[in-house]
Amino acid sequence: MNERSSLNQIHNISKDTRLSTKLDVELLILDLLKIDKNILYREDPVLSSRQLKELEALVRRREQGEPLAYILKSKGFWSLDLFVDENVLVPRPETEIIIEKILESFDTSEKTVLDLGTGSGAIGLSLSKERKDWGVFCSDISFDAIKVARKNKYKNEVDAIFINSDWLEAYADNTFDIIVSNPPYIDPDDPRIHSDGLKYEPIHALISGQKGLKDIETIICQSQEVLVNKGSLFIEHGHDQSGEVELLLEKYNFSDIRKFQDLNGDDRVCSGKIFKC
Ligand SMILES: C[S@@+](CC[C@H](N)C(=O)[O-])C[C@H]1O[C@@H](n2cnc3c(N)ncnc32)[C@H](O)[C@@H]1O
Repeated sequence: MNERSSLNQIHNISKDTRLSTKLDVELLILDLLKIDKNILYREDPVLSSRQLKELEALVRRREQGEPLAYILKSKGFWSLDLFVDENVLVPRPETEIIIEKILESFDTSEKTVLDLGTGSGAIGLSLSKERKDWGVFCSDISFDAIKVARKNKYKNEVDAIFINSDWLEAYADNTFDIIVSNPPYIDPDDPRIHSDGLKYEPIHALISGQKGLKDIETIICQSQEVLVNKGSLFIEHGHDQSGEVELLLEKYNFSDIRKFQDLNGDDRVCSGKIFKC
């Protein structure tokens, strides 16, 4: 393979390829050459034949449906630059709604907060970055996910404590002011599980029994004890699950139930408050 200009290569590959967009190819080249976009467009660096082969392999992975974030080992979320690998879900933009709603709902005074099923640490570390006086705990059943989240704590210079736990089993009653979770909520029979995007992600981060509601119910049930009096639970769910999640919150004695929509206008997050006498 002969040497080629980067911009030519972006043009050629994005013309032929099935899945990669021009932006994907551009990001792969920036990562391969470790340069920024300005240099790419100002200097149009030449790709050596070895770099062309490497690029071809990366584009092939993308064409097979592997998320760009896994190939680049990086994903922007809220104001963080997160390291991601196959041990964690790639954080989704719709999850940012949960951060926004929590920040809107509480002042900056001290709080103890738990991000349950933290994965890459996306939710907990974002909250910690925004609220320096909050004590943020991040927990996950996957020790490999905890390792990724811890790496992201140092990468983004934020504070958090990590705990390896099956949902709330490791925690004492009346511990947290806020519990937040984006749990697995896809029905195991949902054919989307086998789609290009999802098939690379850890299955335990995606599916949950009882039509996707099993883990949500466990979290709601356990949270009523682990939250302090007047504590709040914020939980992300599928776009068609808000009715069921609302009923579960009522079943486990939550009140002040609120629903929040994502940018498509779909219900995506439910919150509730627990009052203990
Ligand atoms: C949908 S992912 C969310 C990851 C991250 N919070 C985010 O929003 O990008 C769900 C996470 O829950 C974790 N998880 C699954 N079952 C769990 C359990 N029984 N206890 C604790 N965490 C669990 C998975 O390992 C995964 O990291």
